[in-house]
Amino acid sequence: MGKKLLLEKDHVPGIRSYEVYRKEGGYASVEKAIKSMTPEAIVEEVKKSGLRGRGGAGFPTGMKWSFLAKPPGVARYLVCNADESEPGTFKDRYLMERIPHLLIEGMITSSFALGANTSYIYIRGEYFYVARILEQAIEEAYKNGWLGKNILGSGYDLDLYVHVGAGAYICGEETALLESLEGKRGNPRIKPPFPAVAGLYGCPTVVNNVETIAAVVPIVNQGGDAYAAIGIGKSTGTKLISASGHINKPGVYEIEMGITVEDFIYSEEYCGGMKGGRKLKAVVAGGSSVPILPADLILKTANGEPRLMSYESLADGGFASGTMLGSGGFIVMDDSTSIVKNLWNFTRFYHHESCGQCSPCREGTGWMEKILHKILDGHGSMKDIDLLWDIQSKIEGKTICPLGDAAAWPVASAIRHFRKDFEEYVQNPSSIKDVHHYYRLNDLTEA
Ligand SMILES: Cc1cc2nc3c(=O)[nH]c(=O)nc-3n(C[C@H](O)[C@H](O)[C@H](O)COP(=O)(O)O)c2cc1C
Repeated sequence: MGKKLLLEKDHVPGIRSYEVYRKEGGYASVEKAIKSMTPEAIVEEVKKSGLRGRGGAGFPTGMKWSFLAKPPGVARYLVCNADESEPGTFKDRYLMERIPHLLIEGMITSSFALGANTSYIYIRGEYFYVARILEQAIEEAYKNGWLGKNILGSGYDLDLYVHVGAGAYICGEETALLESLEGKRGNPRIKPPFPAVAGLYGCPTVVNNVETIAAVVPIVNQGGDAYAAIGIGKSTGTKLISASGHINKPGVYEIEMGITVEDFIYSEEYCGGMKGGRKLKAVVAGGSSVPILPADLILKTANGEPRLMSYESLADGGFASGTMLGSGGFIVMDDSTSIVKNLWNFTRFYHHESCGQCSPCREGTGWMEKILHKILDGHGSMKDIDLLWDIQSKIEGKTICPLGDAAAWPVASAIRHFRKDFEEYVQNPSSIKDVHHYYRLNDLTEA
C-alpha cells in the first residue's frame, strides 16, 4: 500500500466533524506553527518539501510564497482556488467533502506563514453543498479558537471566508478568480504584475489550489525533508488523482509520485484494470487540457522506459510523445472510444468557457468546434483536418491566459496521434456511430 498523507483518515467515521478530526490529531500543524515556528521557518519547510502547486502548472509552492511582497502596512491575502472546473478533475471536491477540516487547517497554517489576516476559499458555484460543509467546518474552527482574534494567545488574528463563484471555468485562472472575488466579471488580468505583488484589491496575494494548501499540514507536522523523501526527482510527496473512464474502479486515489502508469491503471489498489477487459486506446492524464496520448506512449516513453506518474516522466518527450500531470484528471479510454467525438466534446466546453477577451481563443474555439462537428456529421474533408491544425497553432501562446493553450493542446495531440481516426471519418462517414447531435450543421446554415 502506498503512503497516504492527505487521505489517510478520510474513511474514519465522522471525520467531517471537528470533534473526530481533532481526536485524530487534527490542528496539530497550527499548534506547531504558531507556538514554535516563525513564518519564515514555515516557508523554509515548504521550500525543502519540494511541494509543487497541485492546481495544474506545478509551480514550486515555497518559491511562490517567498515571492510574496511585504510592503509595510499593506494587507496580504491567501486565496484558496477551489474552482475545480477542469473536465476530468474532482479530487478537490472529494477532499473538501470528506475531510473539510484538513483544508481549514492548511489555510490557517499557510495564512500564518504568509502573514495574511484575511483569507478566502473561492469555490465553484456547482459545489454549493460543499461550500456549506466548509462553512460548517469554519464555524467549528471559530468556536474552538482556531480562527478569529488572538489565535492560541499568540496575538495572531485570522478571518476566513468562503466565496461561492457562479460556475465559470475561467474563474479558476488565478487572476480571473481575483477579479471575480472583487465582484467583477471574471476576465483574466494581464501579467505582470503577478498576484504576489498586486493581487486581491491590489495587495500582495498568494493563490494556491486546495490540495496544495492541504499538503502544507503534513509538511509542517513531519518536516519538509520527510515530505521530500516520498516521490521521485522533483515530483515529491503524494498526489491526488481523479480517475475516470473505462476502468473498473473510478474514483479519487492518493498515490506516491513515481508509481508506474501501468500499475496505476491495472493494479487492484488503484483503477483495477480496464472495464470488461477491453483494450486501452488512449489516456488524458492530467485533465482535459493536457495532450492525449495513445496506449503505447502513456505506458512507455518514446525511449521505451516505463512511464511514471510524475511531472517529469509524463512530460518526457515534450509534446511530440509526452503530456503533463496537470491537475491529475486521469481519463482512461478503451478501444470503443471515438477520439474525434471526445475532442468535439472538449472543444465545445472550451468554446463555451472562453471569456472572449482574446480573439484567437474567442473565435478559434468556436471555429474548431464547428469543424469537428462537421466531420462528425459526415461532411468533413481532408482539408478540414489541416485547417484544425492551423487554427490550434494560431491560438497556442497567443492569449492573455492559458485557456487558449488548454483548448489548442487537445486538438493538436489528437491530430498528432490519431490522425487516422479523423481520416476514417472523412473517407468513410458510415463508420461514424452514435453521434449525439447537440445541433445539426444544417440548422445553423438555415438560420
Ligand atoms: C483556464 C484555467 C482554469 C484553471 N482552473 C483552476 C482550478 O480550477 N483550480 C486550480 O487550483 N487552478 C486552476 N488553474 C490554475 C491557476 O491559475 C493557478 O495556477 C493555481 O490556482 C495556482 O495554485 P497552485 O500553485 O497551488 O497550483 C486554472 C488555470 C487556467 C488557465
